[in-house]
Amino acid sequence: MPSRKPPEQSAAPSAGPFAVPSAVAAAPSALTLTVSLSTATRAVHAGRADLGGLGVHVPPIDLSTTNPLPDVELAGECYEALAGGGHPLPGGSNVYQRLWNPTVARFEQGLAELEGTDDAVAFASGMAALTACLLASVAEGRRHVVALRPLYGGSDHLIEHDLLGTEHTWATPATIAGSIRPDTGLIVVETPANPSLELVDLAAVVAAAGGPQGVPVLVDNTFATPVLQRPAAHGAALVLHSATKFLGGHGDVIGGVVACGAPWAARLRRVRAVTGALIHPLAAYLLHRGLQTLPIRVATQQDGAAKLAGRLAGHPAVERVRYPGLAECDPLGLVGRQMDGPGSMLAFDLVGGHVAAARVATGCRLIGHAVSLGGVDTLIQHPASLTHRPVPEASRPSAGLLRLSVGLEDPDDLWADLRAALDGLGG
Ligand SMILES: Cc1ncc(COP(=O)(O)O)c(C=O)c1O
Repeated sequence: MPSRKPPEQSAAPSAGPFAVPSAVAAAPSALTLTVSLSTATRAVHAGRADLGGLGVHVPPIDLSTTNPLPDVELAGECYEALAGGGHPLPGGSNVYQRLWNPTVARFEQGLAELEGTDDAVAFASGMAALTACLLASVAEGRRHVVALRPLYGGSDHLIEHDLLGTEHTWATPATIAGSIRPDTGLIVVETPANPSLELVDLAAVVAAAGGPQGVPVLVDNTFATPVLQRPAAHGAALVLHSATKFLGGHGDVIGGVVACGAPWAARLRRVRAVTGALIHPLAAYLLHRGLQTLPIRVATQQDGAAKLAGRLAGHPAVERVRYPGLAECDPLGLVGRQMDGPGSMLAFDLVGGHVAAARVATGCRLIGHAVSLGGVDTLIQHPASLTHRPVPEASRPSAGLLRLSVGLEDPDDLWADLRAALDGLGG
């Protein structure tokens, strides 16, 4: 255990040659913004409130892999604090990039502010983030995971095959309480779910888990983003993102992040430090920058998705549209209650099944046939063949389903492209 207490939120900036070079580490209170500000305002300023004092307009990027050390005693204490999952010590050193990086810490703080949590921990990818949550739970002797399908195919694979020494039970919202064992360490849910956009009532899941002090609930919030849904407000202990998607938003950075309270953050940083699943500071810088435009991207992409959902529903080649903004896809009335909007992800089933889906996926010209989502450009993909291929057949998305991530293009142009591909299927 660290022999020195990590700095409190109010810790004064330290001075001297071995001062922690980041105001994130030295004076976190300066960066914490008033909660009454709107999401759009907080997204622009989160993790940046100290920049004026530093004499810069954008965050400095710290690429140091190693850092100057003070005396041997203090250096050892810094190492111990950071390797144990703590924050830098006042007047101490960041020691080594695997233990702490100020640029990464800025992104973490920005995301935590948007999610309404005390802290956040960033990882090399969304899968690295989920891995760390599972490992942290196993390390505490709680190897059992309760999970709700559907999940992203990689997450399903990790849990289904117990690759990290877990044991698992697949549950439905109604069977969560009965699935919990004394060694259950996590309940894993995704809402809206990838790829078929099912919604889960988070308050009900947390209640079934025994309340906020019960079994920790991990919510994959990748599809909704903190702009539309803040799971911690509903009692979730861990809010996970594939930051690769909406947070970055431009398809040029891979990363993951978990927003959570201080005790979980310490556990996760410890796992990150020793497993090495860290995110590069340049990636963290891009993700932090991505937060600034997140609300406006999410809003505009959502407008486009709503238009496309309606038009797709009217096309004879489409059997069914799955979009949280359609009443039949939100039987519990969660949009407006749990979500501030239906988002920009949708899926649709083709009357012609797999063959038709394959033709539409490759028949679009403007819309890219590629995995990933949440970026400025619209992408289409066939989950049963790709992202959800590892899922056991009985739980795999239907072969006629296509997933669409709606970008920032004009919805009329997107519809012209989609309609041409759908019309091309013939009668
Ligand atoms: C909902 C969701 N969670 C997690 C992941 C994994 O994230 P990454 O690809 O950044 O590892 C993905 C990837 O597509 C995803 O869609």
